[in-house]
Amino acid sequence: MPVLSPSSSSLFVFTCFLILFFSTLNATNAKRRPRQISVNYYAKSCPQVEQLVGSITSQQFKEAPVSAPATIRLFFHDCFVEGCDASILIATQPGSKLLAEKDAEDNKDLRTEGFDTITRAKTLVESKCPGIVSCADILAIAARDFIHLSGGLNYPVKKGRWDGKISMATRVPTNLPHANSTVDQLIKLFSSKGLTIQDLVVLSGAHTIGFAHCKNFLDRIYNYKGTKQADPSIDPRLLKALKMSCPQVGGNADIVAPFDVTTPFVFDHAYYRNLQSKLGLLASDQGLFLDPRTKPIVQSFGEDKAKFFQAFSAAMDKMGSIGIKRGRRHGEKRKVCSMHM
Ligand code: HEM
Repeated sequence: MPVLSPSSSSLFVFTCFLILFFSTLNATNAKRRPRQISVNYYAKSCPQVEQLVGSITSQQFKEAPVSAPATIRLFFHDCFVEGCDASILIATQPGSKLLAEKDAEDNKDLRTEGFDTITRAKTLVESKCPGIVSCADILAIAARDFIHLSGGLNYPVKKGRWDGKISMATRVPTNLPHANSTVDQLIKLFSSKGLTIQDLVVLSGAHTIGFAHCKNFLDRIYNYKGTKQADPSIDPRLLKALKMSCPQVGGNADIVAPFDVTTPFVFDHAYYRNLQSKLGLLASDQGLFLDPRTKPIVQSFGEDKAKFFQAFSAAMDKMGSIGIKRGRRHGEKRKVCSMHM
């Protein structure tokens, strides 16, 4: 029978310790893989979640088609500020001076139809699967549903996000792009979120549906870069139409213009063709066709709808993974999406 000498027994103990140490480390690592989300996340706990959300989104789409652009934009604004964690849905506490994200200036014109859609979907999901599905996942599913309902692809949505505990208006301005952002600024902002130049161009294609208020392009049509002239890269017929709807002073603040003058409610690749014909609405849109880094990508999506659809689904998946929270330490599963637990 082999006998362990003092030195070999301490080696044995040390080896056991190492095995134990690395196995717990591995287990912690496995537990810690916090950023993992998956398409089948609710397969056992709430297998009907997509049907439940789908019943609401299709109803909303029939009753108020603007719910589509509203919810897609809501998802984008959620993901870019604090990650895709439904922090955009939190309401400011009554009487509090600390405004929540949704009350930041940049979020003031998010339409109520997007918020309403998520509230309705959450109420239905809670009635069937109480305490299981996060608001952040419902928002990701609803955004995809509306892309599909408007004519885009029905891509699979990964799930498993938890809702965030932080929602602060002060975090908004530096994390969202603006109508007059330069391509350089857009590239930098998207890159800070782990998104490439191609992702920037493809995600901007969401502007194939929806509308913008006059204030977002007023300078562009009357006083571009302080020249007191319109941006020369606008088609003159579009310029005339925009000027008629949006006077330089005294106009109605509620007036909006469609991003895609050709098919404003259809999710297609017309956005890119429009940019090539000087029909972009915002300076940030048209800029993508003027900059040599983004122009070839605009051209290729303008030529190939299937390519745009594939790239858009992949980029939404990527955007939907920004800053996600997992577990009780960083997140919560809200019962009501507008209120922390
Ligand atoms: C690339 C930089 C972007 C800029 C500068 C930008 C800016 C804007 C602005 C100023 C509006 C008009 C808001 C209003 O007047 O009511 C708007 C609307 C919209 N944005 Fe963007 N956006 C960008 C990227 C995105 C992305 C990545 C998505 C989604 C993936 C998106 C989806 C939308 C949609 C769907 C609307 C229409 C909303 C509606 O009609 O209710 N945008 N965007």
